[in-house]
Amino acid sequence: MLQKSSLLLCWNRWDSLFKPLCCSQSCTVMSFLRCTRSVLGIWQLRSRVQTEISAVLPQACSVCGFIRWKNTAANRAKNVDNQFSNTQWRHMVVGVLAGTGAVLVYGLYRQQVQQAEPKSVPELTSPSVSAQGNDVKPTYPIYTRQDVTKHKTMADGVWVTYKSGVYDITKFVDLHPGGNKIMLAAGGAIEPFWAMYAVHNQEHISKMLEEYKIGELSPEDQKLAISDVSDPYGNEPLRHPVLKVNSLKPFNAEPPLEILSDNYLTPNEIFFKRNHLPVPDIDPKKFHLEIMGEGLRSIQLTLNDLKTKFPKHTVTATLQCAGNRRSEMNAVRQVKGLNWGMAAIGNATWGGAKLSEVLKYAGIPENTNAKHVQFEGLDKDVSGSPYGASISIRKALAKDGDVLLAYEMNGEELSRDHGFPLRVIVPGVVGARNVKWLSKIIVSKEESKSHWQVNDYKGFSPSVDWDTVDFSTAPAIQELPIQSAITTPCNDDYLSADDDEVTVKGYAWSGAGREVIRVDVSLDGGMTWQVAELTGEKQDEDRAWAWKLWQLTVPLPKGQKNLEIICKAVDNNYNVQPDTVAPIWNLRGVLNNSWSRVKVTVRPSSG
Ligand code: MTE
Repeated sequence: MLQKSSLLLCWNRWDSLFKPLCCSQSCTVMSFLRCTRSVLGIWQLRSRVQTEISAVLPQACSVCGFIRWKNTAANRAKNVDNQFSNTQWRHMVVGVLAGTGAVLVYGLYRQQVQQAEPKSVPELTSPSVSAQGNDVKPTYPIYTRQDVTKHKTMADGVWVTYKSGVYDITKFVDLHPGGNKIMLAAGGAIEPFWAMYAVHNQEHISKMLEEYKIGELSPEDQKLAISDVSDPYGNEPLRHPVLKVNSLKPFNAEPPLEILSDNYLTPNEIFFKRNHLPVPDIDPKKFHLEIMGEGLRSIQLTLNDLKTKFPKHTVTATLQCAGNRRSEMNAVRQVKGLNWGMAAIGNATWGGAKLSEVLKYAGIPENTNAKHVQFEGLDKDVSGSPYGASISIRKALAKDGDVLLAYEMNGEELSRDHGFPLRVIVPGVVGARNVKWLSKIIVSKEESKSHWQVNDYKGFSPSVDWDTVDFSTAPAIQELPIQSAITTPCNDDYLSADDDEVTVKGYAWSGAGREVIRVDVSLDGGMTWQVAELTGEKQDEDRAWAWKLWQLTVPLPKGQKNLEIICKAVDNNYNVQPDTVAPIWNLRGVLNNSWSRVKVTVRPSSG
């Protein structure tokens, strides 16, 4: 466990390192991050595999600790052990969840398989019994790779190979929530699938796979067995060590909550990163964007075309992942998805060409009968299918829709994690439709057929579970509901009764350009409320794409050991947040916009 002394050492080292660069000890986190960027190269030299969690987490802990300490030094010094145990505990839980999530899901479905029907063990997979009554190794029929490739569908049975074994996973696919993704491996080796969705490649899962074994690969084909699949995540960009990693491959991470609301514009380095697949490495000189579809002339534009043929617009807009605050849904009942905290949201000024102007250039008719605009990224899964999504034509063409083909983020060119060289920014709309590494735009009567449009990022009743869900019955999430969250203090933090006041901070945002008009804060679990002070850029009516930061400093209630701090926001349509999570729980853990609640303990006065 990190002790206060090592924390102070960490402060002193960072301080002396950056003092000449930063204006003062109280430089903002933004400038701190700028400074640290220059030393990130050291990280690269130290380890090409900096994304290894063992390397990142201790650093993240110490940097996170540094920021927390700096924020409230006097108060925190007394509680530093507690806070570090909290931080470490949080990291541990994230790590354990990331590591065991797939195992849990798999285990659950194994249970369901067993309950669903009496297990019919294929004759050949049962261990035979020797004359002496001892178990002997089962003998399996031999199959060629060609035999396996004939089993790619539910009708023909779904077979896969793993090392030298052949497995019939038809029943598993039938019951598995991500069954259609597993189908990517159907009729072939499962290793490339596991290399892409690394969370599945665990010993427990390969052991469970054994239950589905039906044969062995022929000796000839075994020689060709895929033993060393190159890692599709071998060329990922460098990331800031302060990020809290939710999944390494693909990379998903959010900033520590305590620093999220320190800046109205979230620094690019700590802006949450949500990738479904490996990050493509794109040569901007070879890059071109294809535009095609209903009533358009098909055209290709280079990056330079986009920068020179169209005026550059800038829009300050908040991007929020549908899974933001999923961990609070997990606390009610386990959902499927990354265990995001409250920081899968960020605010940036995006620069680029307006989609409406580019579509006009491509000749879209005034009265187009198209209904959707589809986007495809350059990140592809093992079957070669790209990440994709679509938005309504109305949003795409609206002059005040402000949809951008963005090449800049906060005045810098996009970083690889955020979509270099080009991404769509759809203000007011869920993060999933803001396609990164954009390569194709298709104007169409149909919405995107992408998995992420059709079979994901949709909301359901709490009564719907994986056995009953029918994704075709719900619309794809587009504009997001009103949201707010407390960033300071953090859950389980300690306050001191010596302090007369407490400052509560957070963010608030609503989708569709609706402006946040008020944030109410309670320190007594919702019995009484006070109105927080809002800060943020003034934006046009119905184009309030950016979040508001808020803060409230109030006297610390006397004589109370435990406080439940709550915030809730209201937008200009008087939309409000639901008070609890349970009634909006959904199996995918999306759209959690319940009141944000933080429990803190007040330590008795030292006097
Ligand atoms: N675009 C591509 N091509 N691939 C992706 O995995 N993730 C989407 C969206 N665009 C994604 C993508 C999701 S779910 C979110 S929330 C946002 O990107 C996250 O954007 P960020 O990583 O820049 O924060």
